[in-house]
Amino acid sequence: MPKKSTIKPQVPKILLIGASGTLGRAVHAELKQRHEVLAASRRGKFKVDISDAASIQRLFKQIGKVDAIVCAAGKVHFGALSDMTDALYTIGLRDKLMGQVNLALIGRDYLNDGGSITLITGILAEQPIRQGSSASMVNGAIEAFVRAAAIELPRGIRINAVSPNVFTESMAGYAPYFRGFEPIPVARAALAFSRSVEGAQTGQVYKVF
Ligand SMILES: NC(=O)c1ccc[n+]([C@@H]2O[C@H](COP(=O)([O-])OP(=O)(O)OC[C@H]3O[C@@H](n4cnc5c(N)ncnc54)[C@H](OP(=O)(O)O)[C@@H]3O)[C@@H](O)[C@H]2O)c1
Repeated sequence: MPKKSTIKPQVPKILLIGASGTLGRAVHAELKQRHEVLAASRRGKFKVDISDAASIQRLFKQIGKVDAIVCAAGKVHFGALSDMTDALYTIGLRDKLMGQVNLALIGRDYLNDGGSITLITGILAEQPIRQGSSASMVNGAIEAFVRAAAIELPRGIRINAVSPNVFTESMAGYAPYFRGFEPIPVARAALAFSRSVEGAQTGQVYKVF
């Protein structure tokens, strides 16, 4: 009989940004069943502001190598097109768009071989609502970035995005903007993150509509 190994199998380590939010809590609950999850946000256990590249650098220096980077954070400004300005679009460009792009650019050097990056977009990339031009623009840009980055990332590193419909859990505040949309339980969106992290595909946008 071969001796039983005393080496413990390594539990994959995941960095989850936005872990305290509506989506982040659901993603945390899904992934912690099989992974060590490092919960990060501006006020989280691990502190990071994705709109500041230096803050992303500091976080990775603190935590070191991981097997997956998952983002469930990203802010944009909602407002009527007639009121939108350069400065108001810049909010979404700095936070949800370049925040996640920088997470991928800086984070790739801290990913183990075969690791993955999963970013968040949303249904507004293809189904616009009033006051949502910044969200539509930023979500579309992230999805295009994911498709392009996937063909150039080294060492078997994969990258995908999750594009969910509005969450049932967010309808208290969002219902007036999303009339006629069929909300989804946030746990369904969390499953798409599991597909991205634990599956084999790259360059995908997982739609949860
Ligand atoms: N809610 C929906 O129905 C819905 C549907 C489709 C897509 N989405 C997208 O899903 C993402 C999350 O939405 P949500 O409703 O879960 O938001 P949420 O409840 O407001 O949670 C946002 C999370 O991100 C963190 N965060 C915010 N700004 C950050 C920053 N600059 N750097 C690091 N962490 C930051 C927050 O924690 P701290 O305050 O501690 O930083 C919190 O953990 C957004 O990009 C949203 O557009 C949402």
